Amino acid sequence: MPNHTNGNLGRLATGAALGFVAGLALPHARKAVAQGPSLAAGDWVDALKAEHRLVEKTFEALLQTTADEPMKRQMLLTKIAYALTKHAVEEENVIYPAMMENGREEQARHLVEDHGDVKTFIYDLRRMPTDDPRWIDTARQFFAQLQEHVREEEDDIFPTFREALPQEENARLTRMMNWEGFKVA
Ligand SMILES: [Fe+2]
Ligand SMILES: [Fe+2]
Repeated sequence: MPNHTNGNLGRLATGAALGFVAGLALPHARKAVAQGPSLAAGDWVDALKAEHRLVEKTFEALLQTTADEPMKRQMLLTKIAYALTKHAVEEENVIYPAMMENGREEQARHLVEDHGDVKTFIYDLRRMPTDDPRWIDTARQFFAQLQEHVREEEDDIFPTFREALPQEENARLTRMMNWEGFKVA
């Protein structure tokens, strides 16, 4: 994916990003390039959507594993948990507070509550032996619930919110969100 790398660098070299990237040590800059889909995507909605797709892809692989593949299960669960943690920080530290600020408290609280369920699912799966027959059922339930949350965000809540904001504010949210994600990636 050579375009990805160029895209990331191109984006990092633009706008407000330039200021902080210039001051970072090399390992951080390298990390930014390897960070994945969010910096390559356009605005905050596109970035979050790209992260949703990545998690879905990993989930599909996880759901195809069998009980005799404990390492694979652990590895894929860790990958999902890591991606969702970064994703939650971006949404909870920037997007949801911005929704609250703009009269969408109820929606924001509902989405935060969903994130609480996500954390519980991850906790449960980590505690349960991967060869427990309930493990894959729990993972399946987790995925179904997550997809519902993602659909709500993508089909309604996020596009409607973006539409309601001035372009400048959307650009500001995108910058803030990328920075929040960058810090935990
Ligand atoms: Fe979310
Ligand atoms: Fe999301």
